[in-house]
Amino acid sequence: MTERKSFGEELEAADDRPVARTTAPSLAELWTRRIARRGFLSGAGKAALLASVAPSILSLAACGETTEATPDAIFGFGDVPRGVDGDHHVAAGHDADILIRWGEPLLKNAPDFNIRGQSAAAQLGQFGYNNDYIGFIPLPYGSNASDRGLLCVHHEYTNDDLIHPGYPADDPAGFYTRGIVEISMAAHGGTIVEVSRGENGKWSVVRDSEYNRRLTPLSTVMVLSGPAAGHPRLQTNEDASGRRVMGTFNNCAGGITPWGTWLMSEENINFYFMGENADAGEAVNHERMGVPGSRSYPWGYFHKRFDISREPREPNRFGWVVEVDPLDPASTPVKRTALGRFKHEGCENALTKDGRLAVYMGDDQAFEYLYKFVSAAEVSDDRAANASLLDEGTLYVARFEEDGTGKWMPLVHGQNGIDEANGFSSQADVVIEARRAADILGATPLDRPEDVTPNDATGKIYVALTNSKEREKTDAVNPRAGNLWGQIVELTPDGGDHASEHFVWTMLVKCGDPMFPAIGAEWHPETGRDNWFACPDNMAVDPKGRLWVATDQGSGWNAASGSADGLYALATIGEKRGLARRIFRAPVGAEVCGPCFTPDGTTLFLAVQHPGADGTKNFKGFERASTFEDPATRWPDFAPDMPPRPSIVVITARNGGPVGG
Ligand code: FEO
Ligand code: CA
Ligand code: CA
Repeated sequence: MTERKSFGEELEAADDRPVARTTAPSLAELWTRRIARRGFLSGAGKAALLASVAPSILSLAACGETTEATPDAIFGFGDVPRGVDGDHHVAAGHDADILIRWGEPLLKNAPDFNIRGQSAAAQLGQFGYNNDYIGFIPLPYGSNASDRGLLCVHHEYTNDDLIHPGYPADDPAGFYTRGIVEISMAAHGGTIVEVSRGENGKWSVVRDSEYNRRLTPLSTVMVLSGPAAGHPRLQTNEDASGRRVMGTFNNCAGGITPWGTWLMSEENINFYFMGENADAGEAVNHERMGVPGSRSYPWGYFHKRFDISREPREPNRFGWVVEVDPLDPASTPVKRTALGRFKHEGCENALTKDGRLAVYMGDDQAFEYLYKFVSAAEVSDDRAANASLLDEGTLYVARFEEDGTGKWMPLVHGQNGIDEANGFSSQADVVIEARRAADILGATPLDRPEDVTPNDATGKIYVALTNSKEREKTDAVNPRAGNLWGQIVELTPDGGDHASEHFVWTMLVKCGDPMFPAIGAEWHPETGRDNWFACPDNMAVDPKGRLWVATDQGSGWNAASGSADGLYALATIGEKRGLARRIFRAPVGAEVCGPCFTPDGTTLFLAVQHPGADGTKNFKGFERASTFEDPATRWPDFAPDMPPRPSIVVITARNGGPVGG
């Protein structure tokens, strides 16, 4: 008998399963030959490329040595030992305080949290569930303030079995009512909340701030812009214009633009659609995105747009990047279709040498791709002038070569087989079916690309490939079959320019236990038994240029590491490159998301997602699935009858200095 997973565990495990491709690979082979002819694959080509990036590497290494010359300068903290229990743990010399919990009221007139009397109306004014990405925008806008700002937080999904009293795990179908479905819908989406640091050094939420806002799939009207806006494939019974859509969901990692807007990714959108597809023209598209999901939220019983037998084009209105202006609470969020439609993990970004914006994006599913968008126009100092910057530009997908070079290939209609013959009539079709267009170009299938994080201090880009249990055929960038542990890949753009179509890449670390040679892990040898990790997911760079990595092992934590998820500092340059150290350990069943520093580095915000949920059958002494009535932990309240609550943790150093020393 196979073990039944909770819906949340099933949702996460589904990322591990690849989607079958229907596109013939011959065009990809053609592309390979074209690149080879141009010499990029040859030794001479690689040498030329390396020579062109060498000056930037050298200058940046010199810059980095000032902060990473000694081990103490890298990590000014002792480690947190491996293990798993019901609470969180932070390194000595630091505090880890709960800043905000699921259900806390944010908006005027929102009621206090009442776990036995929850309603959608209440939840719409309260902090949502499963906090993931965290962005920080200092206030006043344009300042470098590190004591007041707006947090922009994603609420990726809901664990309905831990939210609703009496949830019947074995047969939930008859349990759902419109009211219960809408509580979950209202707990999805995003939150903008003002926070400030008091005289005592402690952070708190500014309740009723004029900036506080919830964005949900139940309540927030959004518009679509860019190449697919208004296209018939985005038109539905509710929206004949193809330009207006209700809300966003399954928002995973994200980004903040240089002009202080918030980019929300839409990731596993397939789990929200049910029914038999009624539009044969969308069959290939839906199959490539896994629509409908293998198991789905039952929203379609009460909101017909989630039933693809009635609204077969509604899924085309999700899977985008949404731009939100947190400084204007009345603003309408915009789905930027130029950035492509896939299972978006995050949207961290960096300026090109000529002042345009490059947005890096992973598509988090086994054997999917790495993307980047480069705007056509330069970022302006005039905030309003950037209002449609993300509507025009070039979307690229990455190809990694065995020799350590790589190329960004443009997804442009009419070029390299992305044309009528392959079912693409316009750029709208290309962005709606970005995955299939990328198949045609011969993009490199990766081990589940999660966060992609540029480091402005070094000019390098870090790609978290979280794991890929089903990989059999290996290559240089995905070097392990049955990869339970993941790896972090480092890209150096040609000429240090994020606009370049060429890069060189190298492995920063191969994750997993370094004590067992068969695992094939690669770390700096001083990492030791307590500080290696598995399944890198979200990342951040602190003001000192240090990389921080959060992990998400899902329900496979016991096989991947045997320890709870956590947050780790990871040296990227100098002789300690590849040295990791854990600063924070999550409670059982949780993943760690959204590491986010204030500009001065003295505060680190972390999202603890789905505490008590994942893989609790392997938690010694508990060894069963968590339920509302019987959870593996009641973190962070530990109050009788209170289930575990996803929460944001704020980490500060007791000496008032930077987190991590
Ligand atoms: Fe939502 Fe890819 O983690
Ligand atoms: Ca993630
Ligand atoms: Ca995750």
